[in-house]
Amino acid sequence: MHVIKAESFEEMSRIAANKVMNLVKEKPSAVLGLATGSTPVGLYRELIQDHRQNGTSYQDVRTVNLDEYVGLEPSSHNSYASFMRDMFFSHIDIAEQNTHIPNGKAGSLEEECQRYDKLIEGLGGVDLQVLGIGRNGHIGFNEPGTSFESTVHVVQLDQSTREANSRFFDSIDSVPREAITMGIASILKSKEILLLASGASKAEAIKQLFEDSVSEQFPASALKTHHNVTLIADQDALQLTG
Ligand code: F6R
Repeated sequence: MHVIKAESFEEMSRIAANKVMNLVKEKPSAVLGLATGSTPVGLYRELIQDHRQNGTSYQDVRTVNLDEYVGLEPSSHNSYASFMRDMFFSHIDIAEQNTHIPNGKAGSLEEECQRYDKLIEGLGGVDLQVLGIGRNGHIGFNEPGTSFESTVHVVQLDQSTREANSRFFDSIDSVPREAITMGIASILKSKEILLLASGASKAEAIKQLFEDSVSEQFPASALKTHHNVTLIADQDALQLTG
């Protein structure tokens, strides 16, 4: 794993944005794997600013998001579909039909998982996957114990993940209990992976990532088996790694 140390959240975001922009310029029809949460917000801000100032175009870019809550309408303000629209898609020139997010309201969740797997395959796979990391080492919504063989699947969310995400909801009770997520095997199929980590709350997880062996008990450790992963982390997230 290649590690890039950033001074701050802002620097982490700029470095990540440069990687995404370079790929999009090199391959205008690139397939970007995207994440939600607090970590990539600065990255999206940088990309929007670059789009406005330098005209980097997303007209032919395709995106696939990692995950979506089960039970929320795409229009619900807490859905990841809304998050992506508000934070990124509505500010760039991407075509809506080129942006893909699992449908958490699908009649059959099982069929939706299969559809999403096939969709990613049909796009030719993900060129660059952006990831954040959970405090328990989750990537996507793959909680500790998830098989490294997993493809797109439905997960029961850990209480700790629901608590961490409750900041976006009225109360913990309104945080969905299930989500659809790309599995670990789906993530590892990406040609390149950018793992972003910012803040002291991620320091323990980053320490574990560096020090612990590869184990399904710590999902992010699967990234150590991939040949093209870059961790971009700020000082606070790296504070326990020396
Ligand atoms: C989001 C996702 C999650 C987050 C992780 C970190 O699509 O799949 O794995 O990346 O929970 O979240 P933040 O960035 O809010 O700390």
